[in-house]
Amino acid sequence: MKPQVDLVIFGGTGDLSTRKLLPALFQLHRHKLADKLHRIIATGRATVDTEEFRTTVRENLQTYLPDSGWSEEVWNTFHDRLFYTTIHADKVSDYECLGQLLEKSQAPGRLYYLATLPSLYGEICQRLQAAGIVNAHSAVVLEKPLGHDLQSCQDINEQVAQVFPEQDTFRIDHYLGKETVQNLLAVRFGNPLFSPMWRNTFVDNVQITVAEDIGVEGRADYYAKTGALRDMLQNHLLQVLSIVAMEPPLTLNAGDIRDEKMKVLRALVPINAENARECTVRGRYASGAVNGQAVKGFLEEADFQSADATETFVAIKARINNWRWAGVPFYLRTGKRLSRRYSEIVIEYKRQPFSLFSNDPNELTNKLVIRLQPEETISLHTLNKKPGLTNRLSLQPVELHLTDESRSKGDSYDAYERLLLDAINGDQTLFMRRDEVELAWRWVDTIIAAWEENGTVIKDYNAGTMGPSSATALTAVDGRSWYE
Ligand SMILES: NC(=O)c1ccc[n+]([C@@H]2O[C@H](COP(=O)([O-])OP(=O)(O)OC[C@H]3O[C@@H](n4cnc5c(N)ncnc54)[C@H](OP(=O)(O)O)[C@@H]3O)[C@@H](O)[C@H]2O)c1
Repeated sequence: MKPQVDLVIFGGTGDLSTRKLLPALFQLHRHKLADKLHRIIATGRATVDTEEFRTTVRENLQTYLPDSGWSEEVWNTFHDRLFYTTIHADKVSDYECLGQLLEKSQAPGRLYYLATLPSLYGEICQRLQAAGIVNAHSAVVLEKPLGHDLQSCQDINEQVAQVFPEQDTFRIDHYLGKETVQNLLAVRFGNPLFSPMWRNTFVDNVQITVAEDIGVEGRADYYAKTGALRDMLQNHLLQVLSIVAMEPPLTLNAGDIRDEKMKVLRALVPINAENARECTVRGRYASGAVNGQAVKGFLEEADFQSADATETFVAIKARINNWRWAGVPFYLRTGKRLSRRYSEIVIEYKRQPFSLFSNDPNELTNKLVIRLQPEETISLHTLNKKPGLTNRLSLQPVELHLTDESRSKGDSYDAYERLLLDAINGDQTLFMRRDEVELAWRWVDTIIAAWEENGTVIKDYNAGTMGPSSATALTAVDGRSWYE
């Protein structure tokens, strides 16, 4: 039985806390789901007192809670749980003040949520320990990005591990908190209709798209050193891929699920200097129009010197060398300033061996389409007869919606609500294990080294499109196309 915890948020005044964490905690409080959560202690460098902080949070909640989310009545009880203390990551006396606050608590557990610069994670953990405020009921949550390559990721993991054992370390990838990702497990392993067909005998290809319509916004400096491969593909897309492709776990326990995800990452075929040309595409947005608005190109927005080596789009043809997936390409793509914002997994099934119908068989395949955002839906694209007397057995696509209607009518929640609740309850299933994150970096580092060795050119694409034409060619050379 997990004891009650005080949640201490480092970076409690930052963008993530403001837009996501505090609204998610408010919602958990509203739904009376946070019974294991005692107090929320936000920290930052700003010197404000708890009352001032509460006033700011109140205003921010009114802005960032979903429609009809604000409630004066809920706030009146939520606000008593909320505290603020100033902490500079390197200042010993600030940790002592935190210690005094924690000492007064009735909750034995402490959950430290690090939503600040990853370069501070190691130092914060060590100072927490030195201040004597890590006890047997303490755990830590780490926000992404965990490093910018394998070595820096190992360094952070190593420093954190000196204070928190792996079973008390929760690495966030908020994509795993999405209801549809969990629903994918339910659909796949709960339905005998799908389970036998989840393999290379029936599946032709898998596509995972995470498309953003925004540019780098205020993050140009960070992004100039990062790029789409490190920022999005290394974490979100590989996490989703490993859930789609994993074998049935022994149980739904965290360890069993993460063991199976890990095997998928181990089976990913390395992309090196020899195959990088045919398996990868790097792109960078030039000026264009998104949602009817003229927008600048990336190089006009970012620090020129480092940004000209940065991709804002990446597409990859990945292969998984195992019994289930040999021969099935996994097409992955992610980018900024694309035509619209959406994230989607498409499982495209093989065609019939012979077509009896007049339609172009290439256009009509069965697909399972799992939409992760903006809405969370699952639909099965099937084929049936075009209705009418004049249509003699010609096919038309029909979508079967597999999503429970109630989800869109109030049962929906933000991924951070799920993940915060699980971290408070000590459930690691939807968090990344150290070996998973490091293996994902190893695979990505090989691609980056191949790009460097080959001098891979970054292709321009107009903002408002779905990436450079070579991304279309990535699937077209295989006789396939992206599902749009
Ligand atoms: N924002 C997002 O949507 C998002 C999404 C995914 C992951 N993340 C990750 O979440 C983390 C925070 O991102 P963010 O966007 O919230 O950043 P941010 O808006 O820049 O906020 C940074 C926070 O860290 C605190 N901080 C900075 N330097 C500090 C120091 N030396 N000692 C103590 N506290 C310090 C700041 O406190 P003061 O403001 O009081 O100085 C602030 O509360 C990053 O790792 C980011 O990559 C963010």
